[in-house]
Amino acid sequence: MQKIGIIGFGNMGSAIAEGIKKDYPVIVFDKDKSKTAKISGIKLAQNNIDIVKSSDIVILAVKPQDFEKLLEEIKGVVEDKLIVSIAAGITTSYIETRLDKARVIRVMPNLPAKVRKGMICLSRGSFAHEDELNLAKALFDYLGKTLLIEENQMNAATAVSGSGPGFLYDQIQGKTKEEIKDYIVSFTTSLTNSAINIGFSKPVAEVLAQTTASGSIAYLEQMHLSPEEAKKQVASKGGTTEAGLEVLHKGGSLSEAVKAALRRAQELSKS
Ligand SMILES: NC(=O)c1ccc[n+]([C@@H]2O[C@H](COP(=O)([O-])OP(=O)(O)OC[C@H]3O[C@@H](n4cnc5c(N)ncnc54)[C@H](OP(=O)(O)O)[C@@H]3O)[C@@H](O)[C@H]2O)c1
Repeated sequence: MQKIGIIGFGNMGSAIAEGIKKDYPVIVFDKDKSKTAKISGIKLAQNNIDIVKSSDIVILAVKPQDFEKLLEEIKGVVEDKLIVSIAAGITTSYIETRLDKARVIRVMPNLPAKVRKGMICLSRGSFAHEDELNLAKALFDYLGKTLLIEENQMNAATAVSGSGPGFLYDQIQGKTKEEIKDYIVSFTTSLTNSAINIGFSKPVAEVLAQTTASGSIAYLEQMHLSPEEAKKQVASKGGTTEAGLEVLHKGGSLSEAVKAALRRAQELSKS
C-alpha cells in the first residue's frame, strides 16, 4: 500500500487526509501546530523532510504563495517520490523546474472532498507516467468524482468546480430548505452554461456542475454547517472564489463570476 504524505493540513490537506485515512497510511505536517493538534488515525511528521522521506506519494497542500519556499526546502530529498500538487495556478512545469524534473500530478479538488463528495480534476506533468496518473486517480476516487483533463483546462476547472461551492453557498444564504431545493436546479444549469462559456464540452460541463452542486449541499448537511460558515472555508483572501464573489455581490451573473474566477486563476498562475 502506498504511503501518503500531506504537507499542509489546512482546509484541503485535512479534507484529503480524513477522506483517505481508512484506506491508506497517511502522514502529515503543518507548520501551524494548532492545525494538527487533534488528529486521529493519521501520523504526524516532525518536519517536511521527514514527511517526504517516509512517503511514496507527497501531496503539496499549501497556498500557492507558499510554494516557492516549500519546494526549495524539499528539493534535496524528493528523488523518486511522486509529487501531487493541489494548488490553484501552480503548473506542473513550475514544480518540475524547481524539483529537478520530478514526476508531478496536478489536481484540482473541491471542498466537498472532505465528505467524499468532491469533484476532482487531474492532469499529469511531462515526467509522470500514465500509471502514476492512474495511481493518483485511484487515491482521489476515494474523495469523490474524478475526471482526467488537460492541464490547460485546470484554471477553468478551478473557476467552476474549485470555486463553485463558494458561489452556491453565497447564493443560498438565508434561504429555506425548500427554496434551496428549487434554487439548486437553476444553479446547476447556470454553472453548466458558465463552464461551457469558458471552454468545456457540454458533457464535461454537466459533470463538473452537477457534481459540484450536489457535493456542496452534501457537505453542508454532513458537516452541519450553515452556508455562511462553509463559504468561509472556500473563499480564501485574494483567491479565485473571492474574485468571483466580488462580481456576484455587484449584481453580476454566475457566468461573469466564473469568468472572474478564471481570470484570477490565470493571474495566480506560475509556470
Ligand atoms: N480551500 C479550497 O476549497 C481549495 C480548493 C481547491 C484547491 N485548493 C488549494 O489547496 C491549497 C491549500 O488550500 P487551503 O484552503 O487548504 O489552505 P490553508 O487552509 O491555508 O492550509 C494550508 C496550510 O499549510 C500550512 N503551510 C504553509 N506553508 C507550509 C510549509 N512550508 N510547511 C508546512 N505547512 C505549511 C499553512 O500554515 P500557515 O497558515 O501558518 O501559513 C496552513 O495551515 C491551496 O494551494 C489552494 O489553492 C483549495
